[in-house]
Amino acid sequence: MFSMECEVCPVDSAICESIEKVVGKDGYSTRIADLYTYGFDASIYHKTPDMVVQPRTTEQVSEILKIANAAKIPVVPRGAGTGLCGSAVPIMGGIVMDMSRMNRILNVSVGDLWVEVEAGCIYDDLNKELSKHGFFFPVGPGSAEACLIGGMVANNASGMRAVKYGATRDYVLGATFVKADGEIVHAGTKTIKDSSGYQLARLMCGSEGTLGVITEVTLKLAMKPKTSAYILAAFDNVQDAGRCVSALIAKPLIPASCELMDSVSIMAVNKARGNPLPDCNALCIIEVDGDPEPVERDMKTVEEIARSVGAISVTPTKDKKLIASWTAARKAVMTSLSALKPGHSSVSLADDMALPVSKIPDAVTAYQEIAKKYNVTVATYGHAADGNLHTKMLLNPTSKDDWDRGAAAVHEIFDATIALDGTVTGEHGVGISKAPDFMKERVSSIKTMREIKRAMDPNNILNPGKIDQWEGTILTNLRYPCKEYM
Ligand code: LAC
Ligand code: ZN
Repeated sequence: MFSMECEVCPVDSAICESIEKVVGKDGYSTRIADLYTYGFDASIYHKTPDMVVQPRTTEQVSEILKIANAAKIPVVPRGAGTGLCGSAVPIMGGIVMDMSRMNRILNVSVGDLWVEVEAGCIYDDLNKELSKHGFFFPVGPGSAEACLIGGMVANNASGMRAVKYGATRDYVLGATFVKADGEIVHAGTKTIKDSSGYQLARLMCGSEGTLGVITEVTLKLAMKPKTSAYILAAFDNVQDAGRCVSALIAKPLIPASCELMDSVSIMAVNKARGNPLPDCNALCIIEVDGDPEPVERDMKTVEEIARSVGAISVTPTKDKKLIASWTAARKAVMTSLSALKPGHSSVSLADDMALPVSKIPDAVTAYQEIAKKYNVTVATYGHAADGNLHTKMLLNPTSKDDWDRGAAAVHEIFDATIALDGTVTGEHGVGISKAPDFMKERVSSIKTMREIKRAMDPNNILNPGKIDQWEGTILTNLRYPCKEYM
């Protein structure tokens, strides 16, 4: 793709020549089709960059940043572009730095409990390798087949198994990253413990490309459980499902995963995929894992608790086919929603609030009232046992009125979440779509964040305009054909 000559070159030709000297002719592109493509991630936003660069080494990243920093050109590091809030959209133009060529697993040291990978390694590829040794990197993001480890660190990504196994930050022992001026920093250690000063490797977690370009990561390993089982509990209402989740945890029983779905999510998946789920108003798909004996015991406990909080049916299983169909159904919620209502798309706004688990019933009630008030269809689902709820809105993406009602609902959903001691983003990051509400939520952190940013990137070239620098509304630069907000 990158071996063709430039068609249109908005970047100064001297800059192009310098970049070409670093990465070669096939390591960058200014072709309009490439640029347009790299203007997307999985969010609702789009902006075409001026150049795409695909480095192969940390040293190349360093040289590119030296060039960009001297010329004050924005650089947006990019993993697989699976982010849902616009973190990888080059909103100020400049260079998109695609890390996918740095995809090697460098070293697996099972006796020391770590693996060292390049930032462009795919999550599932890493786990394929680790499973040969009986280990895994367990956080389980929805985009497991595609997402890159560097992007996961930059987002502090997580997913279905965070309740038991934690988020990406809990596994980061060390990271190599390149600062805006090209300085290469090897932060952290290859030890399980490290009490030596500021935890700079973990400072990269949640930085969304604004503090440095992550090129290598050392991750702690987790042992793969011997066995697992699933229980599907169906409920009459989503509040009962929420109560089931906090009752489980209070027992105490920490499930390996616990996915909650409301009636809109269930309806969407059943319509799109030939009814893989029971027809009910709410359900929880609960996974327990470990050694065979405790797994048997936990299955029974989950069943008892689900029934005690009013489950209308409970289906425990170890059947691999059934489990695969439930898991696939849950993973298909996001895409199925777009097929639910003709002329409407499911859009990622207010998409991953995190709450104290006990507040889930109140949060879901509040979200339902807000949806009614603004006359928008809202689906609620998510990783309930760690308090992480996804809402998706079904909007006509060409209608300004739909976007306006949607945005008003989003801000109220975030207000309700913050009032319940929650946070606007649990696993997808801030980017653009959470930025205004994030700044309200973390008002007392913003000054310190800005001081850190200035110290590490004084020319503000790294992913500028994002997180606490965002000045627009959440409806700017939409990828959809709504002329008022494109
Ligand atoms: C999921 C992604 C959207 O849980 O986070 O499906
Ligand atoms: Zn999720």
